[in-house]
Amino acid sequence: MAVAGTTAWAAALAAIVVRCMACGADWPGDRALTSCPTCGGLLDVVTPITGPIDPQRIGAGLQGEIAHSGVWRYRQLLPAIPGGAVVTRWEGHTPLYRDDRLAAWAGLDGGLVRIKHEGHNPTASFKDRGMTVGISHAKGVGARIVACASTGNTSASLASYAAAGGIPALVLVPDGKISGGKLAQTIAYGATVVQIAGDFDAALSLLRELTAKWDVYLVNSVNPFRLEGQKTIVFEMLEQLGWDAPDWIVLPGGNLGNTSAFGKALTELKEVGLISKVPRLAVIQAAGSAPFAAWFRDGYEGYAAVQAETVATAIKIGNPASVLRAKRSLDFSHGVATSVTDDEILDAKAEIDRVGIGCEPASAASLAGLRQLVATGTVKPGERAVCVLTGHVLKDSEAVVNYHLHDVDGQRRDGANRPIRVDATLTALEQALADALHG
Ligand code: F0G
Repeated sequence: MAVAGTTAWAAALAAIVVRCMACGADWPGDRALTSCPTCGGLLDVVTPITGPIDPQRIGAGLQGEIAHSGVWRYRQLLPAIPGGAVVTRWEGHTPLYRDDRLAAWAGLDGGLVRIKHEGHNPTASFKDRGMTVGISHAKGVGARIVACASTGNTSASLASYAAAGGIPALVLVPDGKISGGKLAQTIAYGATVVQIAGDFDAALSLLRELTAKWDVYLVNSVNPFRLEGQKTIVFEMLEQLGWDAPDWIVLPGGNLGNTSAFGKALTELKEVGLISKVPRLAVIQAAGSAPFAAWFRDGYEGYAAVQAETVATAIKIGNPASVLRAKRSLDFSHGVATSVTDDEILDAKAEIDRVGIGCEPASAASLAGLRQLVATGTVKPGERAVCVLTGHVLKDSEAVVNYHLHDVDGQRRDGANRPIRVDATLTALEQALADALHG
């Protein structure tokens, strides 16, 4: 349902074009649309491409808070939301690490692995990049309340940005199925939290019914403005690489918003001449929640949603909203989709954690997937890959405790790092020191 914008911003927002990817209908960007009013198709914000972009001019001329944002820095390729409506928490500017131990673990001998760590955003996940654009648009159109269904990270981000923008927030989360840290963030930032007796897919479908009926601004990734912000993960990564594209960008897939945004980002970078080669996208799902990977494997025949199951609660999604947009991204980038087991995810996470980088389980699907793709010969050992880590290690401390402190089938896991308890004596401490030094 449309919400009226303030008159000062209405004209600027109405000039933004939102296009249906199914029927091609155009809609003005001054309303809160999350599907095509004519055919129900998925929507894209149309980026006006006016010619080549000068890499030296990126981010030039920004004033005030917005100048600190690693998202709005790329405003030439973002919707022209009036500056006064922008809500920012200085998101983006995340590190791009190089780690040769992780490259070796993935099997890339002679190749290179870089880690784009989106856990270094204000609420510790990549969601903040989309949220600054989504909430700014919500503010621009005069939304009275913003809402999302979430596996935890979107809700934490929404709650923070809604608070920053002074807009009430409503979030639906699957009861008992999101991590304590994410729930804590969402509560702390002041959103109204509704715990649904059902999974994420049920929560999103229920919320879409609510927003179709009531004047509530929906900020899930079916909202095309959110995906605009998420494009900047790719913009920033490639700028950090001097616009020298890697062979692969590997990312976890849940609701497939990021996969959709990454493809759009690459299409636009190619069009404005910032990259000449398009990196291949590899989207990795958790084996128990992998309808898109299965569809890809079957040559896009017979798509079927699934009942989701996985230890990586962030991507425990069986009926992803952006399947068709994700396919478009893989088509454009000559990409691939695959799935990895929970054990593979947890082992990859332990490697990422152990080199001092750290991430939440869903994020580690990227490195686990890369390792599998090298083993099966899809990725060649000499190639260069960027793995995207989508959330911070502290997002899911329960997963760390379970992995390191609990036995599996009565056995301690290889590499489990268990705290040791000692008497408060120097002798006991000296023994611990000797053990630490000699392993
Ligand atoms: N990684 C993390 C840490 C996530 O939180 C999510 C999605 C994804 C990957 C998958 O991204 O949906 O764009 O394919 N989390 C959503 C949420 C669903 O509610 O926080 P996607």
